[in-house]
Amino acid sequence: MRFLVTGGAGYIGSHTCVELLNAGYDITVVDNLYNSKRASLDRVKEITGKDFKFFECDIRDKEGLTKAFKEDKIDAVIHFAGLKAVGESVYKPLEYYDNNIGGTLTLCEVMRENGCKNIVFSSSATVYGTENESPLNEEMKTGGTTNPYGTTKYMIELILKDLYVADNEWSITLLRYFNPIGAHESGKIGENPNGIPNNLLPYVTQVAIGKLPCLTVFGNDYDTPDGTCIRDYIHVVDLAKGHLKALEDSFKSNRVEVFNLGTGNGYSVLQIIEAFEKACGFKLNYKIGPRRAGDLARLYSNPTKAKEKLGWVAEKNIDDMCADSWRWQKNNPNGFED
Ligand code: NAD
Ligand code: UFG
Repeated sequence: MRFLVTGGAGYIGSHTCVELLNAGYDITVVDNLYNSKRASLDRVKEITGKDFKFFECDIRDKEGLTKAFKEDKIDAVIHFAGLKAVGESVYKPLEYYDNNIGGTLTLCEVMRENGCKNIVFSSSATVYGTENESPLNEEMKTGGTTNPYGTTKYMIELILKDLYVADNEWSITLLRYFNPIGAHESGKIGENPNGIPNNLLPYVTQVAIGKLPCLTVFGNDYDTPDGTCIRDYIHVVDLAKGHLKALEDSFKSNRVEVFNLGTGNGYSVLQIIEAFEKACGFKLNYKIGPRRAGDLARLYSNPTKAKEKLGWVAEKNIDDMCADSWRWQKNNPNGFED
């Protein structure tokens, strides 16, 4: 079987490519390298000892994308490609709607034209909005997103659900990721953000390596045991494996299915700092700052559905996540730039 992976050169995509290749599947990667480097694909080849097809192409380029579908029969698409910076999306809404929604529409058109009607989509816990109480389960109300990035995820979920209503030959899987961190245990691939990171773990690793002077903890006056926000951090390799389980399930019947991919465990920012210090063996320079606008006190999953229907559970713990993030950063101080 062959799967087409959009955004396969990116953080989660590259780890998923490794798992797909290791499981013996053929893959075709489509990525415009807007937020990634070709080197990550070379590293995927190094880790797996396997080759695969790569199209440097924007998913909004219908002609380019069609070429990838014409070369081989594609059995399903795993759709990672998109812009993902929450803060940036507030300043660049048109770019986010165009890339994420426009890209998905073109992708689905090309899939339909080429008789491929199976898509696994990278959604996010952000679609649960701000009203639901954690642990979040798939039955809870979605919407009420607070930024254009989150709204694109919510809208794409609606679009894909409508697509199934119109044509139930589609098999649609919506995977709601919680907070992916960590890296492949080889230390060869990992998260490689452009500029100053927005997310906690890449910021932490860059402080640890000396590229940034100090981490600011965004608020310690939340209603949580230590006052800092709680999130459901999940190892990116566990997340990647969840995609394989979801794909297997997607061929059993045509349907729309939604799954949370999280561990179900919440960790505070201070607990992450402590786990990271244990992994790297020294103290991290940090200070407490004001709250960041839009942050919720606690956000974690109920991952029961994925366990029961897919037989998937996250296996790696917070110490593994921190150790692997640190190994990646230490081995590649400048990411894929070296
Ligand atoms: P990433 O930026 O590392 O990977 C996305 C990849 O898509 C990049 O390689 C980028 O170059 C490519 N891309 C973007 N627009 C494209 C386009 N128009 N055509 C072709 N390629 C394009 O991000 P990631 O962390 O690996 O996230 C993957 C997916 O998972 C995204 O859709 C993201 O929104 C979603 N997601 C990520 C997180 C997270 O915290 N990392 C959480 C929830 C959901
Ligand atoms: N944090 C800090 N200092 C930093 C960065 C983050 O204290 O420098 C804190 C945040 O306040 C938050 C926690 O670390 O409490 C995690 O923050 P991230 O930015 O790493 O992650 P978020 O939970 O805010 O966002 C993630 C994804 C989004 C997604 C969102 C909701 O990055 O794509 O979860 O699911 F939309």
